[in-house]
Amino acid sequence: MAQLWGGRFTKKTDQMVYDFNASIGFDRRLYRQDIEGSMAHVKMLAKQKILTEEERDRILQGLSGILADVEDGSLPITKEYEDIHSFVEANLIDRIGDAGKKLHTGRSRNDQVALDMKLYVREEVQKTEELLTDLLKVILHIMEENLDTIMPGFTHLQKAQPITLAHHMGAYYEMFRRDRSRLADIYERMNVCPLGSGALAGTTYPLDRDYTAELLGFSGATLNSMDSVSDRDYVIEYLSALSTIMMHLSRFSEEIIIWNSNEYQFVEIDDAYSTGSSIMPQKKNPDIAELVRGKTGRVYGALMSMLTTMKGIPLAYNKDMQEDKEMAFDAMDTVNACLPLFTGMLGTMKFQISVMERSAKRGFTNATDAADYLVNHGVPFRDAHGIVGRLVLTCIEKECALDDLTLDEYQAISPVFEEDIYEAISMKTCVEKRLTKGAPGKGAMLEAIAIYKKELGCE
Ligand code: ARG
Repeated sequence: MAQLWGGRFTKKTDQMVYDFNASIGFDRRLYRQDIEGSMAHVKMLAKQKILTEEERDRILQGLSGILADVEDGSLPITKEYEDIHSFVEANLIDRIGDAGKKLHTGRSRNDQVALDMKLYVREEVQKTEELLTDLLKVILHIMEENLDTIMPGFTHLQKAQPITLAHHMGAYYEMFRRDRSRLADIYERMNVCPLGSGALAGTTYPLDRDYTAELLGFSGATLNSMDSVSDRDYVIEYLSALSTIMMHLSRFSEEIIIWNSNEYQFVEIDDAYSTGSSIMPQKKNPDIAELVRGKTGRVYGALMSMLTTMKGIPLAYNKDMQEDKEMAFDAMDTVNACLPLFTGMLGTMKFQISVMERSAKRGFTNATDAADYLVNHGVPFRDAHGIVGRLVLTCIEKECALDDLTLDEYQAISPVFEEDIYEAISMKTCVEKRLTKGAPGKGAMLEAIAIYKKELGCE
């Protein structure tokens, strides 16, 4: 047991208590952030003449050595330390002696861990943002290739109106675009440095907190030391953003699973992203999409866990807050693994364009347009709705599409129909005429795509 305290104790810690209390098993992944934070702290202490330049240089050298040795595997982070902070400090003292004992001047583990976690989450937010950008680029590519690919749009999972594949993909583009902007907001709000807040009440040393903040790339230092050591809002915000990303990925996965089914056959998932069955030789399963859908639950779980952990904590730091790590790390790992897998699956997926188009035709998705045709010829919409309803019934009896009825059959139900009805209800016309902002018509789609490309910096 190497621990940072003990002077006022007369008994050894019970082993079970020690193990229960220790966090090294999971906060070891903060080693780099802990060392970077310590380096900035020491530079600031020397600038403020709290440490000499010599002491600073020895500490910096010791810390760089520890970092290098942890990274090349020669210095394992083992369970004999209580947490990552003890590990770094104990190793520093081992290496450089008394100067190492001055590292913790004007600092508490409370502001130290608040900083480490923030540095870690800040990097993860950036990583997620990059992974989302990769996904957005793949979706955008599919959109550009499929501006004319007709497919049925659904409501209630029933065929509704014709749209294009580009338009359907565009809906997911919007979801992930919002996710990306949410991350940018979180980054901006969280990017203030808690170091120098001490245990809770600041410190009597003349620290220059703005300088430390600047060294660590923060936009400034936090304004209340009690809040600084007990704020985990940014973890909650990030977990909430991750949950929303997973919710979007899960919806998309669900749709891909449906589209990939034998009944739909709208898409075929690439062999490299499918799995087989141990018993049924014909099977090719969409396991990746199913796993992404399934893993959504554990990310939601991390968010609920964090919200619940924080809800009863009085100011300022309490040990409950050590529980901010395990599930949050798991959620970050989960999303940062799901995103590239999903992007790979989507980018290699084959869209069965002719199946989609046939499906749009066979599902009476142009029925609204047939009614609109009548309206344009002076028939009130409610009457038009009834007339087309009867046409659909005829088609169901004859097992054909609206496009397949003869003009006589049309005119038998309403004399208003003329030869140009076929043109008016062709899938192509149905989509092309929908040009309101945000609609599937090519012109409207191109406007949206131009905005997306500008945002991604790929014009
Ligand atoms: N392992 C602790 C955590 O993750 C570090 C802070 C400990 N501070 C304390 N006063 N016990 O929250």
